[in-house]
Amino acid sequence: MYYFIICIFSFLLTAILAVTGLAPGPRLWPAAVLVNNKLYIIGGLPNNDSFYLDVSKNFNVSDVASMPWTDISTGAPRKDSISACIGGMNNDSIFVIGNKPSASFQPLVSQFDTTKQVWSNVTAGGAPPVDRYYISCASFGKGLIAIFSGAYVTGNDNNDLWLFNSLSLSWIKSNATTAPAARSGYRAITLPDDNILYIGGSYNFSITSLTPMNILPLYNTKNDSWSNITTSGQTPPSRMFFSAVLTPNKRILIFGGVNDASLSYYNDLWILDVSTYQWSAGNITNPSLGPSNLYDHTAAVVGNYMFVCFGTNSQNYPTPTNSSSKIYLLDISKNDSYQWVTDFSLYPQTTTTTTATTTSTPTSTPTPLSTSSQSAASKINTSLYLIIGIFIEALFLATFG
Ligand SMILES: *[C@@H]1O[C@H](CO)[C@@H](O)[C@H](O)[C@H]1NC(C)=O
Ligand SMILES: *[C@@H]1O[C@H](CO)[C@@H](O)[C@H](O)[C@H]1NC(C)=O
Ligand SMILES: *[C@@H]1O[C@H](CO)[C@@H](O)[C@H](O)[C@H]1NC(C)=O
Ligand SMILES: *[C@@H]1O[C@H](CO)[C@@H](O)[C@H](O)[C@H]1NC(C)=O
Ligand SMILES: *[C@@H]1O[C@H](CO)[C@@H](O)[C@H](O)[C@H]1NC(C)=O
Ligand SMILES: *[C@@H]1O[C@H](CO)[C@@H](O)[C@H](O)[C@H]1NC(C)=O
Ligand SMILES: *[C@@H]1O[C@H](CO)[C@@H](O)[C@H](O)[C@H]1NC(C)=O
Ligand SMILES: *[C@@H]1O[C@H](CO)[C@@H](O)[C@H](O)[C@H]1NC(C)=O
Ligand SMILES: *[C@@H]1O[C@H](CO)[C@@H](O)[C@H](O)[C@H]1NC(C)=O
Ligand SMILES: *[C@@H]1O[C@H](CO)[C@@H](O)[C@H](O)[C@H]1NC(C)=O
Ligand SMILES: *[C@@H]1O[C@H](CO)[C@@H](O)[C@H](O)[C@H]1NC(C)=O
Ligand SMILES: *[C@@H]1O[C@H](CO)[C@@H](O)[C@H](O)[C@H]1NC(C)=O
Repeated sequence: MYYFIICIFSFLLTAILAVTGLAPGPRLWPAAVLVNNKLYIIGGLPNNDSFYLDVSKNFNVSDVASMPWTDISTGAPRKDSISACIGGMNNDSIFVIGNKPSASFQPLVSQFDTTKQVWSNVTAGGAPPVDRYYISCASFGKGLIAIFSGAYVTGNDNNDLWLFNSLSLSWIKSNATTAPAARSGYRAITLPDDNILYIGGSYNFSITSLTPMNILPLYNTKNDSWSNITTSGQTPPSRMFFSAVLTPNKRILIFGGVNDASLSYYNDLWILDVSTYQWSAGNITNPSLGPSNLYDHTAAVVGNYMFVCFGTNSQNYPTPTNSSSKIYLLDISKNDSYQWVTDFSLYPQTTTTTTATTTSTPTSTPTPLSTSSQSAASKINTSLYLIIGIFIEALFLATFG
């Protein structure tokens, strides 16, 4: 009799797990990227597993475990302080770039084919860059991904820019001579004209000196050259380990971060209008519903919302003791008053452009009607478990009832 009860419980439990999936645990420095209605969360510290969130569904972010997550950790890179960008033939692969010393036995680049839902380790041709972390990649052109500087596993950070061709899987180095000083913990955003803007960060990870926020390096992807953008408006305080996204209406939003020199921790939102390069302070109508301070997090735009995910609120830089599993949703549909909300829905949504912190390429338009083979398969699994569960229960009742 106990055997049957255990059977029923285990089948029902499996069925419940198949429905809800396992939610990502708390983490610092994961990467986030949106492809075809799936928000991918890759790696992190201390949890380094990977997931996607099905954003074609409605959910409530106040209960992360109830959100439609799918684990994609099999074969995935196991690391943090990474960056992820879209590439591949049909913009349907995710390239995860970066290695800390603790992860340098892993390849510098991993690929996730979102169509086949499989990971592969990339052995890149060309002369690959030295392993590095605290970088922010940026996709542009036909399958190209740029990385700049970062914290080297070998020390002696340099100001080198590298271009990864995600179609041929090979690297080339920039020949530009006027590259900005070495930096890490910055964010790169691909602008609508396909050039790349670099925001924030600290000059040397080991030296507490932050880059200015009113002179921003711009990499011209067409002629392999650098220039400086001088911004107007009120300049945000310098920071690193913040998040940055590009919205469909051509604004860069940055959120949170830390100033390692003054040990200031931020939960502020700033807006950079990329047609005028004017900064302004973002208005959040209900700041108390957002994080008290946040850094080492990641962000992405999905429909009318900026997802602000994971990270830490610890006042204990550089060894934060609180890592977060929280997801905050900022409704960015109204230009001059943003608001923290808990309920997510992609609808009504006709067109959207998407961005992730670590990338910035406006990518795929969410196609609300598409269903993934993975979720269809998990439905088959779920129904299978339910049927087995009901069968066992019927058997139990027939025998003992
Ligand atoms: C989402 O969660 C919040 C906080 O628990 C709650 O106030 C709100 O009603 C929930 N929304 C839905 C649609 O359940
Ligand atoms: C990639 O390499 C790492 C480290 O050797 C390994 O753990 C992982 O399973 C590999 N992934 C694939 C898809 O082969
Ligand atoms: C991928 O997306 C980029 C930027 O949105 C676009 O310029 C490029 O043409 C796309 N590539 C393919 C192969 O669709
Ligand atoms: C990934 O997480 C596992 C489980 O916590 C841990 O044993 C492993 O060392 C981590 N890998 C890296 C490279 O941090
Ligand atoms: C950063 O570190 C490198 C190598 O250690 C050094 O050459 C460079 O001057 C440093 N830059 C700054 C701005 O401190
Ligand atoms: C830099 O110059 C080399 C040699 O001419 C060339 O092969 C490479 O494509 C150039 N890199 C870029 C980013 O243009
Ligand atoms: C690259 O193009 C930009 C914009 O067209 C121009 O201002 C700049 O001088 C060019 N740089 C080089 C090195 O050709
Ligand atoms: C950009 O400005 C920095 C100072 O913030 C300067 O060192 C650098 O040479 C400038 N770069 C270019 C390409 O003008
Ligand atoms: C961790 O988070 C809690 C709750 O927000 C906060 O009270 C505490 O100060 C944080 N710990 C550190 C070391 O910052
Ligand atoms: C919102 O801001 C963008 C860029 O700043 C502007 O182009 C657009 O017209 C604004 N929309 C509204 C409804 O104010
Ligand atoms: C913030 O809100 C105030 C009051 O609604 C408005 O006057 C101001 O323009 C807003 N600021 C921004 C950056 O939208
Ligand atoms: C059912 O779930 C298991 C474990 O989660 C998975 O390995 C298997 O591929 C799934 N089957 C289908 C048809 O999706």
